[in-house]
This record gives sequence, structure tokens and C-alpha cells, in this order.
Amino acid sequence: MDIHLEQLTMQFDDVTAVKHITTTIKNGELVSLLGPSGCGKSTTLMLLSGLYKPTGGEIYFGDKRVTHLDAEKRGIGMVFQSYALYPHLSVLKNIMFPLKMQRVAKAEAKQRAMEMAKLVQIDHLTDRKPAQLSGGQQQRVAIARALVKNPKLLLLDEPLSNLDARLRLEMREEIRRIQQEVGITAVFVTHDQEEALSISDRVMLMNQGELQQDSAPQEMYRTPSNVFAASFLGNPPINFLNLTKEESKAGTYTIDGTNQQVTFMNPALKAYETLKIGLRPEHLEIAAENEAFITGEVIHIETIGRDTLIRVQQGDIPVRALVDPKIHLQVGDTCSLAIEENQIHFFDTNTSERIGGGFSHDVRTNLEEHV
Ligand SMILES: Nc1ncnc2c1ncn2[C@@H]1O[C@H](COP(=O)(O)OP(=O)(O)OP(=O)(O)O)[C@@H](O)[C@H]1O
Ligand SMILES: [Mg+2]
Repeated sequence: MDIHLEQLTMQFDDVTAVKHITTTIKNGELVSLLGPSGCGKSTTLMLLSGLYKPTGGEIYFGDKRVTHLDAEKRGIGMVFQSYALYPHLSVLKNIMFPLKMQRVAKAEAKQRAMEMAKLVQIDHLTDRKPAQLSGGQQQRVAIARALVKNPKLLLLDEPLSNLDARLRLEMREEIRRIQQEVGITAVFVTHDQEEALSISDRVMLMNQGELQQDSAPQEMYRTPSNVFAASFLGNPPINFLNLTKEESKAGTYTIDGTNQQVTFMNPALKAYETLKIGLRPEHLEIAAENEAFITGEVIHIETIGRDTLIRVQQGDIPVRALVDPKIHLQVGDTCSLAIEENQIHFFDTNTSERIGGGFSHDVRTNLEEHV
């Protein structure tokens, strides 16, 4: 069953939490809703669940319009950050609870609950009370309880945020395994880019109620559709530089706040007096001065795991680069950074939209020696 949202909108008194979202979630897909706090992720999930009714737009489950259908008639399972387990009931009875509400015969309910307990690998813990379980185990119970009714759609709202870093990693792999084993369509809310990128078939990136980009994880990272998408994804974050066209030289721009110039051959840029470019720290490398994109003073060095992160400042403009830790650098050194031509992201300064969509092979940049 595909799920289709058409111009979905939710207005609270003075906040439009969800603005004209149109998308299709394909049968069996795991889609992440990603975005900063307050961008409308949970509201979108509540609209899918039927616990909220939208103020505009439509929701379709397959061919059926469910926009105003009540939650209990939609066939959904939900998992929340707080596991919301019943503390006085055993694990097994927690999982059986939705079936009891549906008046499923006890023997059958018990059997189905045990199957779910096996699926989420807590079948050895079914007699315990929730308080006797770890956070990860409690979340497994919550997932089993959400799935026991054979829902058509599984909704998860930041299910891992109460877990420590290692357990989060383990549980996100588990959620993916369970989702694929059951073959269920799932929508997973998170504000953690790594979580979204690692487990989803597709990521819907939101900001201030609006869908910013809707694409496969790697595509979103490689081809961010606007400045927001470029800035939200990537760690350490992307560097932005503002550029202003040099009247005298075609294709040549000055990097604002510096005395450095760069020249691009990309014909799509011709129309732009100003540009914003994005340079990912992992795509910058230390270069000879005549190959440099930007040259400046090293003002900060730190080692994070396998990488060395440096901050190079030119004029007022700092640029972060992840560089080979074997290269010997000190704060105060002068350092030149280069970038592969096709790794530069170009944005329209006025609209913040990506210029020229993806990159074709004939788009080259010519990195002129700086003045
Ligand atoms: N019941 C409500 N009444 C009024 N405003 C609300 C209500 N629920 C959410 N909002 C507002 O709508 C916006 C989106 O909220 P939402 O909870 O969907 O964000 P979120 O992306 O889930 O954020 P977080 O990551 O913090 O959970 C926020 O500005 C929030 O204050
Ligand atoms: Mg939320």
C-alpha cells in the first residue's frame, strides 16, 4: 500500500507546523522525517496516524482517502521516544494489550504476542516487568506491541533518543532488520542525520514545516537541493563562501571578506552577479600554493578519531577542512586548500536554491592562482 500526501497542511493557532507537503511513500519503504527541532516532524507523523486531522490537504492509503478517518481505523502501529509501556503488566501482556482491546481470543493473542517477542528477540524476557528491562529491551517491547496487530504502517517518533550512543547504533540496525523482515512500510522521525542516512530508503528533510528535499540518502548528501539541505547534512558542517563577480574578468569571482579570487568555467554561473558556494570539509585538501582555492592561516587544529580537522582563516572567513593527519601543521602556519572541481556546490544567493541541479561532465572549474 503506497501512502500519498497531497498538499498536507497543519495550522495551529499562530504556527503552520506543516506546509503543503506532497509526497508518496512507497509500499515497504522506510522513510525518515529529518529536520531540526520544531520543523514539524511529529506533527506530520500525528497526521499520518489520524491522531491529528489536517487543516488542509489530503492523505491517501492506497486508493483510499483517509484524511478524516479516525486513528483506530487506519491500521497503524506507533512507537514513541518514551516507550509508554504499562509498568504493572508483564512483557508478554504488554505486547498482547492491543489484541485484548480488539477482543482477540486469549490463546491466539498469546501466540501472536510470542511470535512478535521472537521477532524482536525478547522471547526469553516475556515474564519480566518493564522496569526489569534495559532501555533497548523496553524499546523492543514497544516495537513488538506496535506490530502485533499487523498494521499496514509503522510510525516511529524518535524511538532511540532515550538510549545511549552504542545502544542507539544497535537498535537502529534492529529497527531496519525488523522492518525488512516484516516488509512493513515505515516512517521514522529523527533529528539525527546519521540515523536518517544510515537506515532509510529515502529521507524527507523538513524545515519550518516545509519539505526541503525528498531523496535517497546519498543523493541528499551529494546533491543538496538548497542551502538548508547542504548545511543540515554533513559533519563537520559544510563551509559556505559568498562570492561577488569581478566585472573585468569573465567567470571570475572574489571571495567576500578576502582578497582572493577564483575562476569558474561553469556556463550556468554566467547569469549570477553573486554566488554562494558550499565546500565540504572532507573534500578540501592541502595543496601547493599555485593549486590553491583558498590560502590562509591555520587558526585551529584538532584530531577527531582518524581525522585531523583544521580551521584556516583568510580575511574574515574561516574554512574547515578534514586533512591527512600525517601532514605536519601548526597553528600559525600558512596553508593552501584545494578542492576537486566537481565537489563544489553552487547556490543562488537570492533563492538559496542549487544552481544547475546536478553536475555534468563538461562543468569544470578553473582554479586560478590567487592574487
Ligand atoms: N498541539 C499544538 N498546538 C500548537 N502548536 C503546536 C502543537 N504541536 C506542535 N506545535 C508547534 O508546531 C511546530 C512543529 O512541532 P513538532 O512537534 O511537529 O516539531 P518536531 O519537528 O517534532 O520537533 P522536535 O524535534 O522538537 O520533536 C512547533 O512550532 C510547535 O511548537
Ligand atoms: Mg517531535
